[in-house]
Amino acid sequence: MKVIYITGTSRGLGKALAEQYLQNGDLVVGMSRNSTIKHPNYQHIPVDLSDIEKLEKIVFRPTDNAESYILINNAGTLGEVKHVGSMDSLMIAKAVNLNITAPMVLANKFMDALCNEKAPKYVLNIGSGAGTSAIDGWSVYCSSKAAINMFGEIFDKELMLKDSNCKVRTLAPGIIDTEMQSEIRQASREHFSDLKRFEDYKKNNDLNSASEVAAKIISNFNLIYKNKDAIQSIRNY
Ligand SMILES: NC(=O)c1ccc[n+]([C@@H]2O[C@H](COP(=O)([O-])OP(=O)(O)OC[C@H]3O[C@@H](n4cnc5c(N)ncnc54)[C@H](OP(=O)(O)O)[C@@H]3O)[C@@H](O)[C@H]2O)c1
Repeated sequence: MKVIYITGTSRGLGKALAEQYLQNGDLVVGMSRNSTIKHPNYQHIPVDLSDIEKLEKIVFRPTDNAESYILINNAGTLGEVKHVGSMDSLMIAKAVNLNITAPMVLANKFMDALCNEKAPKYVLNIGSGAGTSAIDGWSVYCSSKAAINMFGEIFDKELMLKDSNCKVRTLAPGIIDTEMQSEIRQASREHFSDLKRFEDYKKNNDLNSASEVAAKIISNFNLIYKNKDAIQSIRNY
């Protein structure tokens, strides 16, 4: 049985990943503000991951008979879609906390708590193409996704130096038909010149379903970690 910690399990990609791992008989510990999954092998930690004090209280523990441990840093937010000069300071801080501080804190705690366990350990950061592409109105989102790419790259380098039984990859999941995409389409053209491209993705049925993307991640999991690139795109699988 795998033990899988996933952030953002109340909807979207995180929920689809959790449901598919549960179908495979694995144990899933989910973290988000809302809980929408009921299953005997599912445990939920209700938490606002943008709140540093609450984040600090999250604990990882060794589990009997764990064949491997996986941490999927999936929860993310677009934040406010506005040009620099019109943003709310608190919303900037909350989005940065969720998108980059929480994955760093959780990866650090995961390593600290489980480093002496014999079972292999995997960290999967959900990144985005936005981490390598400058999109107006998305300065907070793009910057925090660029930051998670660099965090993942350095973490990977450190693990190789130690010859550890832990591996990390950061994966851009492609465009998915979730609440995040509907938020993108609700942005104002004044603050987001690329709006039409995202409206067209929906109109032309270009968005993948969360369950398709989750299935692709799970079925290619070993290949993703065999590939030496620390930062990858699901499009390569
Ligand atoms: N959708 C896309 O096209 C797309 C493209 C590229 C990358 N991504 C990335 O894929 C990941 C999943 O995105 P998605 O599209 O599935 O998003 P989503 O549908 O908006 O779901 C986001 C999840 O994160 C949780 N979350 C949000 N704020 C939180 C907070 N403060 N504390 C704890 N949990 C919080 C939400 O749960 P609660 O609201 O219950 O807390 C929800 O479960 C994100 O990292 C995103 O950047 C998505």
